[in-house]
Amino acid sequence: MATITGPAVPMRPPVARDDRSFPWYVGAALGIAVLGGFVLALLLPLAAVLQWDWGVRWRALAQAHGHLQIGGWLGLFIAGMALRLAPRFAGRPLALARLTPLALALLIAGLLGRAVAQPLLDVPGMRALLLAGAVAELAGCGIVTLALLRTLAPAVRTLTPAPLLMLGATGLVAQALLAAVWLPAIHADYPALPSDRNGALLTVQFFGFVLPFVLGVSFRALPTFFKHTAPSPRRAALIAAALGLGAGLTAAGSLLTPGSGAARTGGAGMLLIAVAVVTAIAHTGVWKHAERLRPSARGAALLIRTGYVWLSVAALWLLWDGAGALVSGDPVPAAHADGIRHVLALGVFTMLVFGMGQLMLPWLAMRRQRPGGYRGETWTLWALLSSATVLRVTGSLLEARGAGTDRYWWVAAAGTLGLAAIAFFAFTLLHARRAPKPEIPVIVR
Ligand code: HEM
Repeated sequence: MATITGPAVPMRPPVARDDRSFPWYVGAALGIAVLGGFVLALLLPLAAVLQWDWGVRWRALAQAHGHLQIGGWLGLFIAGMALRLAPRFAGRPLALARLTPLALALLIAGLLGRAVAQPLLDVPGMRALLLAGAVAELAGCGIVTLALLRTLAPAVRTLTPAPLLMLGATGLVAQALLAAVWLPAIHADYPALPSDRNGALLTVQFFGFVLPFVLGVSFRALPTFFKHTAPSPRRAALIAAALGLGAGLTAAGSLLTPGSGAARTGGAGMLLIAVAVVTAIAHTGVWKHAERLRPSARGAALLIRTGYVWLSVAALWLLWDGAGALVSGDPVPAAHADGIRHVLALGVFTMLVFGMGQLMLPWLAMRRQRPGGYRGETWTLWALLSSATVLRVTGSLLEARGAGTDRYWWVAAAGTLGLAAIAFFAFTLLHARRAPKPEIPVIVR
């Protein structure tokens, strides 16, 4: 009998496809959002409009709300998703894979530590908890960042999403480092970061961490869904560089001594971010028909497209305010910065988590096999979140026009709808997890 011989096939290391901590990251993100960040989003405006006497704690709780939403809801969701997708994108095992459960424990401890300790800083023991929380969060972010950078770095020249994901990973640890350095300086008589440092921190969180991740995953998934040409890795690297530089300048504008120089620096940063965002949108193809999606999954395209409409609104707003600050030397009003942040937080980031989640979270994605799809659920999420975004931004615009505390009624209405949206999304996910599991191929190749 003839023996068949041939050249030896080189063995590739197995790709870590099964990140066991992934469901826990998603579960923790939703738990913190439903029980923490969105509850505070409702209580803060109610406290303001009904004149509950929270004193200086109101400002500390506003920062706790922002931190729980950015670090908890979006941060844990993004970290879990990125740790799952990076090895698939790069075609190599995840670096430091065994440390991902430890990173999650540190992140949760850090987030809850700051959320409890900051508003109660006058209570004995709380300063130590605040500092321990900041260190735990820095350590957790450090592990996630290292794992992502080591996994993606070898593919940075050939893989389109890599530069943006690497910028996002760097932004994640940078914001934790800034918080760890600045939080020890706050005092019980005003238990909040001063507005210059807080503004810089929020800039790094929004434009150096969350937005790059959102664009990186979009570059991988959306050109496929909408049959559009994906950007080259070089183009993606240029967009990442503009975004990183823009975030740096905007943060510097917050930290410089107030005056026309600081305002112009911040304005230039906002302009650069806007240009990077508009260029990125042009590479997604979201305006085209979603012909590569099964008909039962096309509802998710509504959420994704709406997220991109809001991203265009945010880009135009950044362009307008950035250009205004650059020409006039006057700073961008705080109410505008608050409005832009919530267009992004609700209209873009949360909307895209819902839309991409329907397509990419294994438990939700498997329902594509179901005849009839899940149109009612998609429209409910869309209606709740779109109206929450409009109402929340109305609150900011009213503040910019000098309206009194009555404007918080709009914000409270937004909080009610936002809480309903996130609770409904968590419910659909829990419900879908109970269903029997068919074998699901990953959507993004
Ligand atoms: C409908 C839902 C929401 C409502 C009603 C709401 C309400 C508020 C309120 C009242 C403030 C304080 C504003 C001020 O300083 O006067 C605030 C700040 C903030 N919110 Fe929201 N919010 C919502 C959703 C979100 C989401 C989803 C995110 C992020 C994912 C977010 C991130 C932030 C951030 C980062 C701040 C700034 C906190 C700081 O000053 O450090 N919010 N929000």
